[in-house]
Formats: sequence, C-alpha cells, structure tokens
Amino acid sequence: MPDKYDAIGRGYTGPRQPDPRIAGTIAAALGDAQRIVNIGAGSGAYEPAGRDLMAVEPSAEMIRQRPPTAYPAVQASAEDLPFADNSYDAGMAVLTVHHWSDQARGLRELRRVTRGPVVLVTFDPAHSGNWLDGYIPGLRQLDAGQMPPMDFYARWLGAVAITPLLIPHDCLDGFLYSYWRRPECYLDPHLRDAISSFHALGGCEQELALLARDLASGDWDAQFGALRSCVELDVGYRLVVASGPG
Ligand SMILES: C[S@@+](CC[C@H](N)C(=O)[O-])C[C@H]1O[C@@H](n2cnc3c(N)ncnc32)[C@H](O)[C@@H]1O
Repeated sequence: MPDKYDAIGRGYTGPRQPDPRIAGTIAAALGDAQRIVNIGAGSGAYEPAGRDLMAVEPSAEMIRQRPPTAYPAVQASAEDLPFADNSYDAGMAVLTVHHWSDQARGLRELRRVTRGPVVLVTFDPAHSGNWLDGYIPGLRQLDAGQMPPMDFYARWLGAVAITPLLIPHDCLDGFLYSYWRRPECYLDPHLRDAISSFHALGGCEQELALLARDLASGDWDAQFGALRSCVELDVGYRLVVASGPG
C-alpha cells in the first residue's frame, strides 16, 4: 500500500535541508553511540556522520530521496521494527512521531531495540503564542490531535529530559514554524508543499491571503516586527532525550 509520504514527500529535500545547528544538538545528545537506529528517517537529515547507522522509513519515495552516500535504509514502520532487542546503542526520531499510527507502540519498539539513549525532536502541543496560529487557527487543533503531550514520552521510554529546541531565524530546514522570522515564506506554495500540516489542512489559501494582506499593508510588522531582530526563538519544538533503560 502506498505510504502517505509517497505522495506528500515528493520534492521534500529542496526546502527541507538539515540545519547544521540542530544537527549539532542531536549529535551531542547521541553522545558517542556507534550503532544508531533512525526511525522515520526520511531522506537522511540529521544522521550523524562516522557512525554505524540504520535508517527506518516506510515511504519508498522518501527512501528514493536519500543520497547515494547515505546510510542504508530498511522500509519499515516504527510500530514494527525488524530488529532484535537491544540491537542498537542509541535511537533517534526527528519530526516523525506525530505521523505514527500507534505512537505508544512505536516508542515501545524504539526502547526495545535500543540499549542506550533515545533522542527525539518533536513539538509540544501545549505551546502557544506562535503568530502563525492566529492566521491559521486549525494548526492548534491539528497539533493537539497528532502531537503527543510531553508527559507521554516518559511513560514509554523511562526517564526523559525535555528541553526547548530554539529555532534559528535562518533555519535551513523548512518545517512548519521554522519561518517564524520570515513570514513571506508561508506565501510560497513550493515551501508549503514540504510541510505536512498544509497538506492536512487543505492548503490554507484563504487564511494565507490574510497574511499576504497584512504583510503588504505593514500590519504584520506593526504587530510582530520585533521578531525581525531576534536570532533564535522557542516556537514549541522540543528535544526529548531518554537515557538508557538503566
Ligand atoms: C517530517 S518527515 C521527517 C523525516 C526526517 N526525520 C527529517 O527530519 O527530515 C516525517 C517522516 O516520518 C515518516 N513516517 C510516517 N509514519 C511513520 C511510521 N509509522 N513509522 C516510521 N516513520 C514514519 C514519514 O514517511 C516521513 O519520512
């Protein structure tokens, strides 16, 4: 059966380049782990170099976009990992948990196959205050429905440390709230196409017409222009690091 990302993942790697600052944070959280499993690996973003890494990705289209030099990938889902218990020193899963059909089962699987740290990048659905939500109110509802609350992770992974992942103003990875200081980017359909929330909400053209109007009139800058001098911001993304099972 074709995977959701076989359709929405086409052209992903253009606007979705790994950001080196976020990559550094993830690599530091993985420590010196050598054998790493990356779940929902997509086209290979944030896979640290010089390790022994196995990517897990259900979408053939996303696997197709992995560069020839990328680590090997197996076509599988988080909920049913084709590995023995404790096969890996560490696990990672970046901006993917919200897509899993059974998030508890996927996290249990990740814990089962990993003997050391598990590193996740996700979004806190309790975070509020992103200006984009004022234009597209459906985003809060979408996130509430698909993003696990922060207390979910400890239930399946054991002790976790959760810290805000600040997003640089010029983030190379064009995920949903990455354009917090570049509002014009949301008016570019090519950039929106690489963001699953816009697919889920049906494009949001009407809502974005209001943003276009406010940018043209100067109203956006009158309300939010102070952001244009911020270098990084907490827009709700979180680094979740579970230590080993003990
Ligand atoms: C937003 S992309 C993130 C890809 C990559 N981790 C990155 O940071 O660029 C989400 C990925 O999760 C994958 N995915 C969706 N459902 C999944 C599941 N049940 N198990 C594992 N991966 C899944 C999608 O196919 C897609 O490649």
